[in-house]
Amino acid sequence: MAAAIETEHLTKDFPVGFWRPRPYRALDDLTLQIEAGEVFGFLGPNGAGKSTTLKLLMQLLFATRGTARILGRPVGDVSVRRRIGFLAENPYFYDYLTAEELLSYFAKLFGYRGADVTTRVSRVLDDAGLGAERRKRLRQFSKGMLQRVGLAQALINDPDVLFLDEPMSGLDPLGRRRVRDQILGLRARGCTVFFSSHILSDAEALCSRVAIVVRGRMVASGKLTDILSFGLKGWELVVANVTDEVRAELEKRARQVTPLAHGRFMVDLSPDADPPRLMHELGGRGIEVVSLNPVRDTLEDYFVQTVAAAAPRPTGGV
Ligand SMILES: Nc1ncnc2c1ncn2[C@@H]1O[C@H](COP(=O)(O)OP(=O)(O)OP(=O)(O)O)[C@@H](O)[C@H]1O
Ligand SMILES: [Mg+2]
Repeated sequence: MAAAIETEHLTKDFPVGFWRPRPYRALDDLTLQIEAGEVFGFLGPNGAGKSTTLKLLMQLLFATRGTARILGRPVGDVSVRRRIGFLAENPYFYDYLTAEELLSYFAKLFGYRGADVTTRVSRVLDDAGLGAERRKRLRQFSKGMLQRVGLAQALINDPDVLFLDEPMSGLDPLGRRRVRDQILGLRARGCTVFFSSHILSDAEALCSRVAIVVRGRMVASGKLTDILSFGLKGWELVVANVTDEVRAELEKRARQVTPLAHGRFMVDLSPDADPPRLMHELGGRGIEVVSLNPVRDTLEDYFVQTVAAAAPRPTGGV
């Protein structure tokens, strides 16, 4: 079966400079294969080339070199366009329309008519949590609400492949949870989702695989379980009711003891610290255990290491 999304040596140069424009390579030789039904995270720091890649896939830009295919067909193929959805990085809509009018317009562009339009519009608005605001003009919408309208628009045609550029940007925690759930729902019905993000915990919660791009080059890709060892790095113990004597004892045993609000302390223990024994020993002295959590490798640690290795800080200077 053909991959849902495929790029080969995809490269984009922008001419930069007015009098003597020089090519600036925003994307360098990207070769990727994303299988049908995958939720794929495309991660990278600012200016890495994420939006450029998405725009190349959407044919909002044209490649300097290389090719891209969606659902086995070249990008831009009309039969493919009907089956994809796209949320741009900063979606802009004609803001004198209401959410309902805008989405009806998009539904009609896809060829839906009559009651089908009304049903689809209601469904995507409800899924986006905008059911109550359907008759408000978009100019009265907040940034996060517009982002949700953008996602609703991307889903109006029940796409088989969905491209999302920073879908969580501008969303409050509830909005993020909703988008996460929506993406999980899409995955359950077999939709392929390709999304760029800075929010690594979202990528961790949603993705089967990720790629990390830095300065236009892919520096890592693969399954999260392969990329992250998930090895135990230590324990985070939060305690209350700590006397000076107990605090001194903890400081001897821990890598670090940090005071928190409300008289609590965060105790950073090494992986071999045996926290249950420690708590048993200290329990008799009135100490109260608030929480105990294992600390494991996260995508954030990996990301920071990879990005730092790919883009070393300039040496010298201040
Ligand atoms: N039209 C353009 N002309 C010149 N340079 C451009 C153009 N569009 C993007 N670039 C440059 O290409 C690089 C990649 O930009 P891109 O928008 O793809 O980054 P990004 O990974 O999406 O970043 P962010 O996380 O900030 O959204 C940047 O250095 C940017 O300045
Ligand atoms: Mg971007």
